[in-house]
Amino acid sequence: MTLSQTMAEPSVPAMPSPNPPALAAGAQAALNEAVRTQGFARLRPAETRALLGLPDAALADFAASWDRLEIDDFMADGGRYRRRRIANFAALPGDAAHRRGLHRPHFQAVVHNRLNGGVDRWFAPVEDDVAASPACQALLALGRGVADALQPSRPWFVEMHQFRIEAAAGAPGLPTPEGVHHDGVDAVLIAMLDRRNLQGGETLVAAPDGTQLARFTLDGLLDLTVLDDRRVMHGVTPVEPADPALPSCRDVLVLTWRRAG
Ligand SMILES: [Fe+2]
Repeated sequence: MTLSQTMAEPSVPAMPSPNPPALAAGAQAALNEAVRTQGFARLRPAETRALLGLPDAALADFAASWDRLEIDDFMADGGRYRRRRIANFAALPGDAAHRRGLHRPHFQAVVHNRLNGGVDRWFAPVEDDVAASPACQALLALGRGVADALQPSRPWFVEMHQFRIEAAAGAPGLPTPEGVHHDGVDAVLIAMLDRRNLQGGETLVAAPDGTQLARFTLDGLLDLTVLDDRRVMHGVTPVEPADPALPSCRDVLVLTWRRAG
């Protein structure tokens, strides 16, 4: 999930976005402070849900959209174990909304992704109603809060990635085939949507010199971490099915904020 973006300008907004939700101010401030002081923070599912204040049905609809992702055809290792959709947004100072941009390819510099970097990669777009959904907008607002606290009054180029990693017996899935890395952005939010019949998939957080700072398994709907990508690196260990006779998957949302212009 190395998600560097080298193109500087936000896309022209393609459609209006709904008004962003109002998050619990105290919990948001605590999250912002944790990321500011540590370089990263984790919110357990109950904490995230309390912060977002969304009905269960809204979260269930959002999670169900991961059943409609498309195969990533750009895996340089030939892997067919990853499905995804992407979207981009502009978030401007003085405007709390994330305004969706025109669909565009994802580009990573080779320095940030030696496996798949250096080429424009076209992925299927996030479905319109998913991008505009209350759950998506609330998670964008949550991560934006952290990004704005780290660097106030910045125009942000924001990318959204829906990922599904599928693992089978003898064919492990690699959530970050490039290893522990920076995304090459400013702030990153990684949220678990679902883990089914999996072992492995530990999230690693490391200092730039490689010193491990944290190791945990995101598990359960909206178990999430937010990272200051300038200060810490991240990665995820391989996954394999707990029961080799059954299908497995790891569904994750990644949101990134990068200074635009
Ligand atoms: Fe990443």
